[in-house]
Amino acid sequence: MKLATHVAPRITDQDRFVLRKLAREVARPGMRIAEVGSFLGNGSTLALLEVAAEFGGEVVCIDTWRGSTNVQWHLDLARDHDLFATFRHHVGEAGFSSQCKPMVMESLVAAQFVADGAFDLVFIDGDHSYEAVKADVAAWTPKLRDGGILCGHDCEGEVGEFGRETLRANVDQDFVQIEGFRFAGYHPGCILAVDETVGEAARLWSLTDLAELGFTGRSTIWSTTPHTAEQAARVA
Ligand SMILES: C[S@@+](CC[C@H](N)C(=O)[O-])C[C@H]1O[C@@H](n2cnc3c(N)ncnc32)[C@H](O)[C@@H]1O
Repeated sequence: MKLATHVAPRITDQDRFVLRKLAREVARPGMRIAEVGSFLGNGSTLALLEVAAEFGGEVVCIDTWRGSTNVQWHLDLARDHDLFATFRHHVGEAGFSSQCKPMVMESLVAAQFVADGAFDLVFIDGDHSYEAVKADVAAWTPKLRDGGILCGHDCEGEVGEFGRETLRANVDQDFVQIEGFRFAGYHPGCILAVDETVGEAARLWSLTDLAELGFTGRSTIWSTTPHTAEQAARVA
């Protein structure tokens, strides 16, 4: 089957900037990162591998490589292209094959094979529906070491900016387009699930003008360091 090398990365330069920054905050020799949702390997995967490689570490990439079931263009792409071969192509081309450890399976199944406390950073970017993001946060939070960072993609703002009822009415949609907002639209499932699991402990990078950090624009990454007793209890 064909490679899907024509598809542009699904994350922005701003997201890459924040991901590299977060990974560097928890970096140590032999560091370990888990990425839930790697897709074609030309987006977040490369940003995370860059930092892991710098510190002699590894990125465990978890994906079905069949696309998200609520994203029609993923399913269309997966029907005609080999997504896993495309992923390996991009990672290999960037020179990171030996630092990349794929797990070809559902996120919640992979979590059962992984020891608690195994990772310095976990990045969640798999199925964006409300139930799936909540389940991923619950399953992967225990996989972090003390002081590790849990983060994810596609949280465009606070619940109050959209309205809880509006978000609830759209939770099964991957993405809702809107005009006149700081992004082209929003991911209702991610926004609600992050609010309900991580709550105020979540840093929403969409609210930070990256000019403060010497970059430009805004990112839809969210992040937290969940190992306070209160927060661990909340996501369990
Ligand atoms: C938004 S894409 C990830 C984008 C990627 N992080 C990037 O920067 O290009 C979501 C990915 O999650 C995967 N996925 C969806 N549901 C999943 C599940 N239950 N378990 C594992 N992977 C899943 C899809 O196959 C898809 O590749």
